[in-house]
Amino acid sequence: MIEVKGTVHPDVKAKVDAKSWFYTDAVRDHFFNPKNILKTETEASEYGKEADGIGEVGSPACGDMMKIWIKVEDDKIKECKWQTFGCASAIASTSIMSEMVVENDGMTISQALELKPHDIVERLHGLPARKFHCSVLGDKALRAAINNYFFKSGQKDRIIVSKGAEIVDKILKITDKDIEEAVLEGAHDFEAVQKKTKVGVQDKTCIPRVNELIEFYKDKYYG
Ligand code: FES
Repeated sequence: MIEVKGTVHPDVKAKVDAKSWFYTDAVRDHFFNPKNILKTETEASEYGKEADGIGEVGSPACGDMMKIWIKVEDDKIKECKWQTFGCASAIASTSIMSEMVVENDGMTISQALELKPHDIVERLHGLPARKFHCSVLGDKALRAAINNYFFKSGQKDRIIVSKGAEIVDKILKITDKDIEEAVLEGAHDFEAVQKKTKVGVQDKTCIPRVNELIEFYKDKYYG
């Protein structure tokens, strides 16, 4: 948790209790002045010809999309450009992420893979809880771009293959990914997740596993 002058920063608190709505100066700066953005389709298509990796993802939580281009030298990220059809939080978090991965001579690919949405949110001094999934969008697109770099540079053994979804509720066919999305949308206990997904309404045997997953994703994204 970020402490500001001995108190909990109000927005980081908002990230936890999801009650207030607040954007920090860092969010505003990066929203009004986004760094490393590709502004036009022509710019994007020209840059795409030279990029070492390109990744594009959509967010099931809101339907927005994010595209990231990277240039890599000696296994370090030297440039990171992006475009989004996303909200202010997606713009701010991807803008700051695009600076984080190239600062100090560039992160190694392994360091970039260690980067968590939580780290991005901390650099922004917080995001409201219901906007947390917006920071995940940039992070996922970066991973997709890194995978594309592995593919294009013939490092196929480094490609990260995500495992198939685990069905937790056998009657309603609700998966671990559905629980992940619910947590990212701000549902942080069983009751809230059940309200969003209906998990465990009929298949009560899945409740302990759902609780485990809620704790896992809360820890993964909110630290
Ligand atoms: Fe869709 Fe922020 S990226 S609401």
